[in-house]
Amino acid sequence: MKIIKVMNNGEAGKVVSDLILDEIKNNSKAVLGLATGSSPITTYENIIKKTKDQSIDWSEVTTFNLDEYKGLESDHEQSYRYFMNDKLFNHINIKKVNTFVPSGMIDSNEEAVKYDQLISDHNGIDLQLLGLGINGHVGFNEPGSDFEGLTSIVDLTKSTIEANSRFFEKESDVPTQAISMGLKSIMNAKKIVLIATGESKALAVKNLVEGPISKEWPCSALLNHPNVTIVIDQEAGKLLK
Ligand code: GLP
Repeated sequence: MKIIKVMNNGEAGKVVSDLILDEIKNNSKAVLGLATGSSPITTYENIIKKTKDQSIDWSEVTTFNLDEYKGLESDHEQSYRYFMNDKLFNHINIKKVNTFVPSGMIDSNEEAVKYDQLISDHNGIDLQLLGLGINGHVGFNEPGSDFEGLTSIVDLTKSTIEANSRFFEKESDVPTQAISMGLKSIMNAKKIVLIATGESKALAVKNLVEGPISKEWPCSALLNHPNVTIVIDQEAGKLLK
């Protein structure tokens, strides 16, 4: 695992945007796995700016997002589809038809797993971007998730609902379920880049970097992946040996 230490989330955005744009410069048909949450926002801001400055062409790029809240329509302001359009897709020349976000309106795992089929139809994800939950979740794979899991409907833990309630008017508005790529779907990506900044992520970062590999800390599954880069600030890294 490669660890890049930065000063803060703003600097993480500069570094990670370069990693993503390098992928597109090397392959105009790159397939990217994207994430939501607050961690990647500065990355998307930097991507938008550098895309303009360097005239980067997104017209042949395909993206797959990690997850979506169950029950939220794509035009709901807290849906991850809305987030992606607003924070990135509306500002670059990507074709919306090439941007995939799991549908929050599906009702069965048979439907959910079609997302993995779609990813393999595109020859897999070249670079998967990840944030990190306080409890070590990646995507919405909460503690106890199966390391072999593919895209499915998942229950959110109380701590995730609390953590994400800051984006909603009140905690009871936060959906209690989501559709998430599974740990196996994530591990299938050729490269993984994870952003973790701030003190609240310190314990999860310690488990991610030092293990042990355990279902209690879903992020520790990444220790089995051959090409992972994590970008952390001092606070997120403060418990590391
Ligand atoms: C959410 C998302 C994750 C994200 C995590 C961390 O629950 N499903 O993909 O990585 O929370 O969020 P943040 O970056 O806002 O701390």
